[in-house]
Amino acid sequence: MAQQPRHFLSLLDLSREELRSVIRRASELKRMQHRGDIHTPLKGKNLGMVFEKSSTRTRVSFEVGMSQLGGHALFLSPRDTQLGRGEPIEDSARVLSRMVDIIMIRTFEHEKLELFAAHSRVPVINALTDLLHPCQLLADMQTYFEHRGNIEGKTVAWIGDGNNMCHSYINAARRFGFRLNIACPEGYDPDPEILAAAGDSAEIIRDPMTAATGADLVVTDVWASMGQEEEQQARSEIFAEYQVNDALMAQAAADALFFHCLPAHRGEEVSESVMDSPDSVVWDEAENRLHSQKALMEFLLLGRV
Ligand code: CP
Ligand code: NVA
Repeated sequence: MAQQPRHFLSLLDLSREELRSVIRRASELKRMQHRGDIHTPLKGKNLGMVFEKSSTRTRVSFEVGMSQLGGHALFLSPRDTQLGRGEPIEDSARVLSRMVDIIMIRTFEHEKLELFAAHSRVPVINALTDLLHPCQLLADMQTYFEHRGNIEGKTVAWIGDGNNMCHSYINAARRFGFRLNIACPEGYDPDPEILAAAGDSAEIIRDPMTAATGADLVVTDVWASMGQEEEQQARSEIFAEYQVNDALMAQAAADALFFHCLPAHRGEEVSESVMDSPDSVVWDEAENRLHSQKALMEFLLLGRV
């Protein structure tokens, strides 16, 4: 039987050492890109990009990344493929993976991604599900390492919804060895199994000021994720105390950084002043999506980092 491909559905699919190597390689690819080096190890390779939700950063970073590596990327939306007309996931996976070399999927249910991966002959990358957003964490960890060095032993404050990003931060706390303080309103906690599996690495603190005290990194995300648009109004009221603003950043360490995966809603989960402050490195974070996913594709396709 053919060997099963390596997938990246969760950060936990890669070992601590593999994640560290991918991030190191991402910074190297970034330097090469900034120097103008031509590096095309994926010549002749094709990436299938399945998007069932909107995207700016993920789409552009994967498409441009594949092109810079010498390959080609195809954008596949359910609106104009048979995926949107009820062709079984298993069949779509079997067919697509006989034609392309690697596939990234952004969808709703995580189980759908797992089902697809189980029937794919080629590596599958999670480009966001309702449960996890591991690609964003590659970029976030790269960004922390580039600005402040090793994140091991540091304290990270997650302020806001216990959502897909929060879950990936919990997994990152396990793999990268930092402590995660989670401040979320009651009823918006992260998945208890994901939290429990992290042991002492992650804890719900509830109060945002307490969670941010002494933190080396403060992270937030939108209050209503994609698919929760009708809850936007109710959530704005429930999350009102969970804004990352100057008062909250004043609780954090003097050299604390601010991260947001973007898109951001200024005046909701983050104040305009924090978004545009020197602590905020959100544009580097966004750029690093490109470099870290190039490193990930090299790793999955060539087995090297
Ligand atoms: N951060 C992120 O995944 O952005 P997009 O939704 O624009 O891809
Ligand atoms: N939690 C957000 C992240 C967007 C990149 C969402 O799922 O919409």
